[in-house]
Amino acid sequence: MKKNDFLENIDYSQTSNLSIWGTGDKDTLELLDKIEIRGKWLNLAAGDGRYNLKLLEKADSVVASDIHKGALAKLCRTTPEQYKAKLHTKAFDLTKRFPFEDGTFDGVFCSGTLHFFPKEVLKGVLAEISRVLKPEGKVMIDFATDVKRVFPDGSIWVKRGEPGYKLEEAAKFLEESFRDYKIETRRSKVDEDDVKINSHTYKFSCNYILIVGEKK
Ligand SMILES: C[S@@+](CC[C@H](N)C(=O)[O-])C[C@H]1O[C@@H](n2cnc3c(N)ncnc32)[C@H](O)[C@@H]1O
Repeated sequence: MKKNDFLENIDYSQTSNLSIWGTGDKDTLELLDKIEIRGKWLNLAAGDGRYNLKLLEKADSVVASDIHKGALAKLCRTTPEQYKAKLHTKAFDLTKRFPFEDGTFDGVFCSGTLHFFPKEVLKGVLAEISRVLKPEGKVMIDFATDVKRVFPDGSIWVKRGEPGYKLEEAAKFLEESFRDYKIETRRSKVDEDDVKINSHTYKFSCNYILIVGEKK
């Protein structure tokens, strides 16, 4: 496995049309329904597209990105025909410079991913999000903390290199990181979600912080 990726060698072509990451968290789905989404949006680390349709329903166009080309292929395949014209994909590593000009997007959405990275890497990712956003552009992210993955035999899986953020520590870090944004924050949790990756099944639970921000 390459440094800073969590590909886990998933063969998305062998998975069902449903997202391997679940149906989507209630509060995240509700917030996506509620916030204004218009213009051009970037879905960063979109995976196989659990939330992408919510963006496509409202935005003029959506760039779904991920490091995993197989995930993006599945996302395209499972996108209803009527939305395909406004869907674009771009495979890239979000820990590097994003392959977009400054001020390209009206909004950036990222879920289920940023907690993988240590603070020094995250600072670079958040700076890139800010760079590709237009002035007054919007950001919506979720950030998982207190993550627990339990296998059926009760053993716990800690992913290699995952920082293991706690709620208060992450909240403070995110508040500082988004000081150039007007933000609204809420807290939520995933009680237990079944995740199946390749031949592994585990129960995933976490707390998470949801942030909607507007670049000042
Ligand atoms: C837990 S999944 C979440 C996917 C999706 N955002 C969702 O909520 O369903 C994490 C995603 O991050 C992607 N990813 C991991 N490391 C990455 C990196 N360095 N650059 C871009 N994407 C990455 C993975 O391929 C995977 O699709």
